[in-house]
Amino acid sequence: MKKEKGMTKKFPYEFIGEILITQEQINERVSEIGRQITCDYQDSEKLLILGLLRGSVVFITDLMRKISHPMTMDFMSVSSYAGSETTGFVRIDSDHKTNIAGWDVILVDDIVDTGITIQFVRKLLLDRYPKSLKVCVLLDKKERHKVETPIDYLGFDIPDFFVVGYGLDIDEKGRNLPYIASVDLSKYQK
Ligand code: IMP
Ligand code: MG
Repeated sequence: MKKEKGMTKKFPYEFIGEILITQEQINERVSEIGRQITCDYQDSEKLLILGLLRGSVVFITDLMRKISHPMTMDFMSVSSYAGSETTGFVRIDSDHKTNIAGWDVILVDDIVDTGITIQFVRKLLLDRYPKSLKVCVLLDKKERHKVETPIDYLGFDIPDFFVVGYGLDIDEKGRNLPYIASVDLSKYQK
């Protein structure tokens, strides 16, 4: 169908299936996690939020404004995915700058799928002597776990869909959506 000028599309990307988590649901849950972290770390003298680029950026920028305790932030960049398939091994593209020895570190990622990324980064960080290390993720696809993945703060459990939005992407597309939506892979073209 030819689109007439001024006609608004339902979604900005053709490949979107449905909205799984709305902006309102995300806001509410992120506020709750922020309050929980504020409470759990009230005695912390060195709190570091360490995000995995790039998927966790939107989540972190919202979450940090819900934490009312002194904190700093840093990032690492790792990759394991090509399109909607994990390659099964994790590559560090850029490391964090902070010397985390003695810091209370909260590792933040957008989503746990097989758990391989979080397990790999957790082990790496533990070798760098943080005072404590916890894991915070927005989404968890529990049924897809291949390795043990302790999650201390979780936004939402989701079923086995490939999802985009709120920072998450498929081949760099979809990060700007303000909600979490499933990808209809039959409509997805690279
Ligand atoms: P894991 O190592 O298999 O747990 O994969 C975790 C990483 O894969 C996340 O940090 C995401 O970057 C990416 N990922 C896994 N599932 C999805 C998804 O449904 N949408 C977008 N990215 C995903
Ligand atoms: Mg990621």
